[in-house]
Amino acid sequence: MRSLSSNFMKRVSRARQHVQRVFSASQSPAELPQAGRFQPYTHTLPNRYPWLFKFAAANLTNTDACRLLSFGCSRGDEVFALRDYFPAADIKGIDIAPDNIAICRTRALDGDIAGVRFAVASNTGAEPSAYYDGIFCLAVLCHGDLSTYGAQRCDPLIRFEEFSRIVGDFGRCLKPGGLLLLLTTNFRFCDTEAARSFVVVLEAEPEWLARDVLFGRDNRLLPDQKYRAVAFRKRTEIRPSHAPLDM
Ligand SMILES: C[S@@+](CC[C@H](N)C(=O)[O-])C[C@H]1O[C@@H](n2cnc3c(N)ncnc32)[C@H](O)[C@@H]1O
Repeated sequence: MRSLSSNFMKRVSRARQHVQRVFSASQSPAELPQAGRFQPYTHTLPNRYPWLFKFAAANLTNTDACRLLSFGCSRGDEVFALRDYFPAADIKGIDIAPDNIAICRTRALDGDIAGVRFAVASNTGAEPSAYYDGIFCLAVLCHGDLSTYGAQRCDPLIRFEEFSRIVGDFGRCLKPGGLLLLLTTNFRFCDTEAARSFVVVLEAEPEWLARDVLFGRDNRLLPDQKYRAVAFRKRTEIRPSHAPLDM
């Protein structure tokens, strides 16, 4: 009796392993969940947001020797565009996908592009405090499937808490007076605690915005909402935490 039951359990265990193998094999790498990842799609273009890059070049105070971070740089087009707008800047691109960073490095070497460096990372935890003059986070803190499939909630794909944590750390990495450029996100920066340390300096024209949907602090859809604020300057003065937000 004991050996019958033990044989049965072995068969169940083998069947379970088989199902797990088939399930994993049927998923492409892009479908596998990866800790900390937001946008799984890597679409990018050369000079993709000229209006935003021009704004940043005109509004960064220390343009000559500035330090810029492109967070979620994909295959490097954003970094190479920034190279043209900020010829003397030190520019770092980071992306969660090692394949993307390998492509960025090859492109920089092949094109003999100086003053750019790249790293694999899913957040800015390893970056120094009060270091960057500008952080560009464009089409990263979102997930394309939420708009495509009409999601009513954004979790478990992405979560407000993680968005808030990531942008909060951008605040740490920026110098006082530095610029944060945040475009195409599924959350509003104004809903985060970090927003208290920033003022809005640019609102996009509605036609410049992608048609991505927005979710609230509770990860529920905010129907028919548009959020036009895209550039934020880090305050130079310390603000009491009870002060009202002005965005
Ligand atoms: C649609 S591309 C945007 C590329 C570029 N910023 C642009 O706007 O053209 C999104 C990129 O964000 C990267 N990404 C997603 N989550 C990330 C994370 N937590 N940390 C760093 N990169 C991330 C993806 O690997 C992908 O390359």
